[in-house]
Parts: sequence; structure tokens; C-alpha cells
Amino acid sequence: MQALILAGGKGTRLRPLTVYTPKPVVPVCNRPFLLYQLDTLKRAGVTDITLSLSYQPHKIEELLGDGSDFGVRLDYTVEPQPLGTAGAYKFAEDLLREPTVVFNGDIVTDLDLRAAVREHNERKAVATVVLAPVENPSVYGVVETGEDGRVRSFSEKPRADEVSVNTINAGTYILDPKVLDLIPAGESYSFEYDLFPDLLQRGERFYAHVPRGAYWLDIGAPARYLQVHHDILAGRVGGIQLKKRRGECDLATVAEVDELSLLGDDCTVKPGAQIINSVLGEGVHVEEKARVENSVVWPHTRIGAGAHLSNAVVGRGCHIGRSAQVGAGAVLGDKTSLSDYTQTGGAL
Ligand code: GDD
Ligand code: MG
Repeated sequence: MQALILAGGKGTRLRPLTVYTPKPVVPVCNRPFLLYQLDTLKRAGVTDITLSLSYQPHKIEELLGDGSDFGVRLDYTVEPQPLGTAGAYKFAEDLLREPTVVFNGDIVTDLDLRAAVREHNERKAVATVVLAPVENPSVYGVVETGEDGRVRSFSEKPRADEVSVNTINAGTYILDPKVLDLIPAGESYSFEYDLFPDLLQRGERFYAHVPRGAYWLDIGAPARYLQVHHDILAGRVGGIQLKKRRGECDLATVAEVDELSLLGDDCTVKPGAQIINSVLGEGVHVEEKARVENSVVWPHTRIGAGAHLSNAVVGRGCHIGRSAQVGAGAVLGDKTSLSDYTQTGGAL
């Protein structure tokens, strides 16, 4: 079994965070996101992995190299221009000799991949799509299945009034290499809009796998990016254990850092400051009486005295002025500077 991770999207919905950092390697709990996907594959014994890139590929290659630091073997494909999800898979054809697990490069899951592969094999499927239940299916690919587990319909981002089930495409597929023959080479082609409807029309063995009680989230929008941090901090994501919640930091004895929070190395937290249910990247500096709650702060940001952050995401190297109030939903790009006493709209 091999794997292909689709990591070529622009990450538009995560802007401004993805202006300098491609979505596949945005930090999640202080680790480049793709490392969690490599872990999920490794747990299932899949170590031969191709990363399908298009946008800012060098930054990703520099960080992950040949994969040996992470116990896997990585290959890369870089499309000259984005070819769509299935087009990207076709573009990697020369590297794919076996049934392949395909991951969207922005999903977090603790799915038992071995069980999905087993079911795929038992059913002699040509394609298996893993499903997840969600509350707002219409922003995803909605999948209807029959009693026998066969996919009956696949509709990508349908209108809300067209949706009758809550099961969506979790962005994980197991594909037999013979589906490669159904994808045109060198042109833009999509699993969701093109290949899956085609498989249905041809009556191919296209099945759905429904994992039992698995965690699933797409981190591709700010609210969900923040949510995954809270879920990992609270231990709700199986397979992810935070080894150490405090790096080598300078924490004032009269500062409060709660048990959930995660601090990278070289952080400074001054007297009277409070860090609650939050993640601070390496080298973050928090001045006296500042309060950071339910927030994610990327490396080397400074938070001024008495400033208050709540449910916010703050990029790298920002400066938050003294007594500034940064409220729910705020997402600040790298190097943002907020002057003293700034107030942003969201509720604190
Ligand atoms: N290499 C490459 N080339 N990768 C691409 C391309 C491309 O042209 N286009 C998208 N990708 C990658 C993105 O980087 C991302 O990891 C993944 O494919 C999915 O793209 P998104 O843009 O994040 O799609 P989405 O979240 O709106 O919808 C998809 O994911 C949902 C689950 O999270 C669809 O697959 C839905 O059906 C699905 O429910
Ligand atoms: Mg997505």
C-alpha cells in the first residue's frame, strides 16, 4: 500500500495565515500539520508516501526532506499549475504501482486506516471513500450509500436544501491503480466533480467506509483551525499525544499557565500574565498582566502588557500593543502590528 497526499491547494480560506506558510505545513500544536498525516499513515504501516504539491512547494520540501527524519520515504510531485484533485493523482502515475491511500492534505483524523483497507479489499472495490458525519454537509462532498455500503450518489457542495444525509466525503480514499485509466492526463480533473460521478455512471465497484467513532476535522478554515487545537489540547484526538506541554521557557512564578496550554521553547511569560487553553509557539513573549485564552499564537510574537486575546489566531512575529483587545474570530497575519489600546470586534 502506498499513499498520496494532496497538498497543492492555495489554502485561500486560511488566509492570511497561508500567505507565507503553505496550508499543509501550518503549525498545529507547534508541529507542521503534515506530520500528523504522516503519523496516521505510519500507524497503518504505510511509509511509501508521495506529496502532491503545487503552491509554494519548496517550503514544504525543505521542511520534510526525504522523510527519513520522520520514519517514512517521501517523494514529491510538483504540478506546473494545479491540475485538480484527480489530475494531481494522475500526474503522480509513474510513482503509483499499488492500491493507494489518498488523503486531502488538510484533514485530521484518528481513523483506523487498516480497517478501511481491509474492507476495501474484502469488497474488491476499485475505489473506497471514507465518510464522516457533520452538521453542515453542504460545504463538503455529500455521499449517499446503500445498505450494502455502495456509493449511490456523490454531490460536491450541494445547496443546503438538496441535502438529505449528513455523511460527507472525509477526504480519504483508497484507490485501485486501474482508476488511473479513467483520468485524462495533463488536464484539470477532479475526484469530486468528475471521477466519482463517472465511477457511478459506469457502475464500478465504488464503496464507502464508515469508521466507528473516529475524530475528523478539515482544518482549512480559521474556526476549524482553532477548533483542532482545542480538541488536541483536550485529548479528543486519538493517536495524538502531546509529549511535553512546556518547552524550555521563562515563566514568572506569579504567572498562570493552565494545564491544557502548550508552550514551545524560549517563551517568556511575565508576572500576572495568564495563559489559558492556548498554544504559544517558540519564542512568544507575553508581558505583565496580559491574558491569552483559547487562542493560538505563532512563534516570535510579542503580546504587550495588559493585552487580552480570546479565541484568536495570531501569526508569526506579530506585535500586540499594550492593553489591546483581540476578540473571537480575529486572525492576524504574520508581522501584524497592533498599536496600544487597539480593540477588534469579536466578543472577548
Ligand atoms: N496537488 C493538488 N493539486 N492538490 C490540490 C489541488 C490541485 O489542483 N486542488 C486541491 N488540492 C488539495 C488541497 O491542498 C487540499 O489538501 C485537498 O486537495 C482538498 O482541497 P480543498 O480545497 O481543501 O477542498 P475542500 O475542503 O473544499 O473539499 C474537499 O474536502 C472535503 C473534506 O475536507 C472535497 O474533497 C470534499 O468532497 C470533502 O468533503
Ligand atoms: Mg479542505
